[in-house]
Amino acid sequence: MALTNKQLPKLGFLYLDYVLRFFDHSNFKGWPNKIETVTYHWGNDKKRFIKEVKRKKIDVLIGNVPATAYETFREIARELPEVRFIPSLDTQFSNKSKENVTRFAWKYNLPIPKTYIYYNRPNADKFLQKTQYPKIVKKSYGPSNYGGYFVHKVDSYSEARALFDEKKYHPMYFQDFVPMEADIRVMLIGHKPVCAFWRRAPEGEWLTNTSQGGSMDYNDVPKSVLDLAVKVSKAAKAEYWACDVAYGKDGKVRILECATAFAAFPYIRDWIGQYLMWNLSEGRFRKPHCPMFNWEELGKIDSSLLRTMRHIAFGKYNSSYDGAYFGNKKKMYGEGAVYLHELDETYKMYSVDRRWSEEWPSEKWNYQDKFSLNNLKSMKVPNLKNEDAPNPTGEDMESISTTPELTKKELKNVLTSVKGLGDKKFNKIINELGKTQEVVGVLEQSPSILLNIKGFTKQLIKKVETKWEEFKKSLEK
Ligand SMILES: Nc1ncnc2c1ncn2[C@@H]1O[C@H](COP(=O)(O)OP(=O)(O)O)[C@@H](O)[C@H]1O
Ligand SMILES: [Mg+2]
Repeated sequence: MALTNKQLPKLGFLYLDYVLRFFDHSNFKGWPNKIETVTYHWGNDKKRFIKEVKRKKIDVLIGNVPATAYETFREIARELPEVRFIPSLDTQFSNKSKENVTRFAWKYNLPIPKTYIYYNRPNADKFLQKTQYPKIVKKSYGPSNYGGYFVHKVDSYSEARALFDEKKYHPMYFQDFVPMEADIRVMLIGHKPVCAFWRRAPEGEWLTNTSQGGSMDYNDVPKSVLDLAVKVSKAAKAEYWACDVAYGKDGKVRILECATAFAAFPYIRDWIGQYLMWNLSEGRFRKPHCPMFNWEELGKIDSSLLRTMRHIAFGKYNSSYDGAYFGNKKKMYGEGAVYLHELDETYKMYSVDRRWSEEWPSEKWNYQDKFSLNNLKSMKVPNLKNEDAPNPTGEDMESISTTPELTKKELKNVLTSVKGLGDKKFNKIINELGKTQEVVGVLEQSPSILLNIKGFTKQLIKKVETKWEEFKKSLEK
């Protein structure tokens, strides 16, 4: 049921010195309680930051983490297991690097240009000698808003060689060149597209970034593009999300970039704020209604005006008063013509649930630090002889998951064999944490979270941990 002021979680904004703020209080208009802010000062600020979050009793920390602070914030999140980060650090995995975007897409079978990632530089060189050109070379790590500055086209091995000698990008990250019509930016809230536009390259060029002279327009974004963006947002379990989709000359769609940090008009950040207020209040605040293809209408407004317009609201379809617009307006979409308001049923705005366990633990996925260069001059990677980060194009692809996959029944058998933990308590765990796999994650990573559940004591959790270890040992046999 809808929460009272007292029951609402305590919110805090996550800020970093020198980093542009995505949200502020004005995006959360109507939130009845004080919203705290916690600012990360660069350098050695982890401990102090954690203390401040605890002292302010923050339940939910809202904000984007930039690439260069990503690994630090994974550590911080681990030390604050009670705090919900929005977006979660797992959702923000793609913010860190192009490598991470690629690994995310590989895991979920999302279409991307064929991509190669090498930490082992001699191996990359061998590959570049025998591969086909053109290729696109990119700097993997860093914020994605440099607008094509670290993206290069190479037409031959010698050009590739010269580029890597000069730029010393590490890892060596490159893709097949995809001839495309344009690329399309889609922004989503709760997996529902709320804004989308084409970015076209200037005549005879291939970079579509608007900062490189590309042009944008809002009309007739294809169904295949919106469908892919929704799929990507769901895979990332993102409360809000932006996705750049390449629309190929072959008619296929592929992801170029995706992240929670992106440039967005203020009215979109207002919608995200309203969405989060709805998500966190169990229905007390109203979900914003963002009709499909609203962007075609708003796109008619001069962008200088859109940059200042706030709290834009749309009515829901109602045959008596706005039927004249929403009810009669049809759109060619996919196979045929559909009524606009019907599309709101197809593209729902979902509530994104809190996640309790880590999907991308750094011990495994932070190849960048594991395989970092000794120094730029030598270009040598320590402890890397024939080893490299796994790549599905190679033979060294390893299995993604090391945690056991269990059915709910199997999990129930294990947990209810603990003395003092019966069906009732088991159901409470499932209610609190949601899915079976989330419970497994909690058992693996931070069992102390179970303390939040009524009836769980430290002793009981100890017993659960012991039982879980026994169970895993029994699997090894
Ligand atoms: N594999 C590719 N084939 C063809 N063009 C590409 C490819 N990858 C990127 N581009 C073009 O380069 C632009 C910038 O690449 P992107 O990966 O988005 O990097 P950035 O972080 O610099 O925006 C894209 O918007 C697209 O126009
Ligand atoms: Mg880009």
